[in-house]
Amino acid sequence: MCGIVGIIGREQVAPLLVDALKRLEYRGYDSAGVATLDFGVLDRRRAEGKLGNLDKLLKENPLGGTIGLGHTRWATHGAPTVRNAHPHTTPRLAVIHNGIIENFAELRAMLEKDGYVFETETDTETVAHLVTRALDRGLAPVEAVRQTLPQLRGAFAIAIMFKGEDNLLIAARNGPPLAVGYGEGEMYLGSDAIALAPFTDNLSYLEDGDWAVLTRSGVIIYDESGEIVDRPVQKSAGTAFLVSKGNHRHFMEKEIHEQPEVISHTLANYLDFSKGMIRAGAAPVDFSKVDRIAASACGTAYYAGLVGKYWFEHIARLPVDIDVASEFRYREMPLSKNSLALFVSQSGETADTLASLRYCKQQGLSIGTIVNVKESTMARESNTVFPTLAGPEVGVASTKAFTCQLSVLASLAVAAGKMRGTITDEEERRLVRELSEIPRYATQALKLEAQIEGISRELSQVKHVLYLGRGTSYPLALEGALKLKEISYIHAEGYAAGELKHGPIALIDESMPVIVIAPHDRWFEKTISNMQEAAARGGKIILITDEKGAAASTLKTWHTIVLPEMPEVITPIVYTLPIQMLAYHTAVFMGTDVDQPRNLAKSVTVE
Ligand code: F6R
Repeated sequence: MCGIVGIIGREQVAPLLVDALKRLEYRGYDSAGVATLDFGVLDRRRAEGKLGNLDKLLKENPLGGTIGLGHTRWATHGAPTVRNAHPHTTPRLAVIHNGIIENFAELRAMLEKDGYVFETETDTETVAHLVTRALDRGLAPVEAVRQTLPQLRGAFAIAIMFKGEDNLLIAARNGPPLAVGYGEGEMYLGSDAIALAPFTDNLSYLEDGDWAVLTRSGVIIYDESGEIVDRPVQKSAGTAFLVSKGNHRHFMEKEIHEQPEVISHTLANYLDFSKGMIRAGAAPVDFSKVDRIAASACGTAYYAGLVGKYWFEHIARLPVDIDVASEFRYREMPLSKNSLALFVSQSGETADTLASLRYCKQQGLSIGTIVNVKESTMARESNTVFPTLAGPEVGVASTKAFTCQLSVLASLAVAAGKMRGTITDEEERRLVRELSEIPRYATQALKLEAQIEGISRELSQVKHVLYLGRGTSYPLALEGALKLKEISYIHAEGYAAGELKHGPIALIDESMPVIVIAPHDRWFEKTISNMQEAAARGGKIILITDEKGAAASTLKTWHTIVLPEMPEVITPIVYTLPIQMLAYHTAVFMGTDVDQPRNLAKSVTVE
């Protein structure tokens, strides 16, 4: 999941490449590098760690040239060192790559036998030497690439620049996304539209198997069979700005606070508040003909899907099979033709989710995707796109995308209930009204921030945390634990509250905070019993509940976070906010890099 960018321009490209990489840093930030051709001389600068290090290096030691490549890395093969940083070069070319070359070991052995000397542990360097070998055998660059591509197995987006060819970039896509941008007398390549936003909004997207030859006057795109193909030029919308943090310390903080607004936009896309109905055409799937939903997603998006399962089954009596996409795709699950395959993804590029989508497509299923990035590969490959209108999410830990995904899932469950006759018109009106109240309750939840910050100060002193929940609060327990561990690096686990006594209770002693998510709903009493069991073993309880729940619970907790009472259907969305704030403030106290936590990347385009 690296970010790649290429420019054949008229101005000095190194600063432009760094500017584009800033927009791609969400894809990985283990190292970054830039290579340019200046009067035929191929040179590069690479730095370990965040892009700022490369920027500094380039200021001290600039690179000239009007053609170049830039890369930001999320390490797969080889440690995140300068040596392994892209671009990788040979005396003849420079290569950048996003993805994994699966047969790199056998290619490397073959190339080493032929006398090619490797400098790095990366899979990418095999591409550099393979193309170089073809050039050494007398082929011109285009032919060398044409003959190299069929030898590569795996997922890749690559771009190559050739020494002595200052009007040529060649790119190829097999898996991870790659866009071609059109300028006037300038051409661009980028992992996404956001990277290229300041340069152009005219883009075409390469399809799997495509490869492209770019010069300053345009591009020729070939498909896998070598035929010239036309990939339509599209206007990319709404990305022509570098999203800013505003007055917030971190993007994550800003994105947490944006939730009342973006949830409201998302809901308005599906619900007609004035009529108290699902908006006509907002759910263009005939749920009355669907007998099962086969859902999959990864990470936070998977937890959104897990909440959705409760809603679809309860409101629409529609069974949902849900799995993490990395398992789903290999599970060979029997799928009926009347199943709806449903995917949830912020980026729309996650490799495992995309592979699951393609598997279901091959099985002849109709594909629906809940996705935040409209131009993404998943959006383009789906029969039905259910947009989340969360806007660009920059913080690596997903916040507003999650609550918007939940908002879509809840709306779709109501639409399905209506179509399947499991809810009446009156129930539809009630549910729509209840959903319309989420932004108001979310705003109230944000007001708890000062208390939550105080609790987080104490939480930042502990080593392990358990989260418990039942019913729709169970996926929230999983999400709470994920959020805490990914940004604060504190070990946290989420459990179904009822599972506690089947093992995890052994972990509990006086040093173990147990965060119990328990709105006063139909699962409340049972959850509270589980909380008592944890407290009896010395667990330090942080109870997240509502006024009624706080009054009903007699236990003296370590802390209680009290939300207003609210309709049951909206609790998973509103209760997410205190959970996010707990993770955020704990991470701030720990002093971690909240927006770009170690080892992670925003868009996971490797399996
Ligand atoms: C966690 C997080 C990840 C993503 C997961 C799926 O905060 O953001 O777990 O949810 O990588 O990504 P998308 O939604 O882009 O498919």
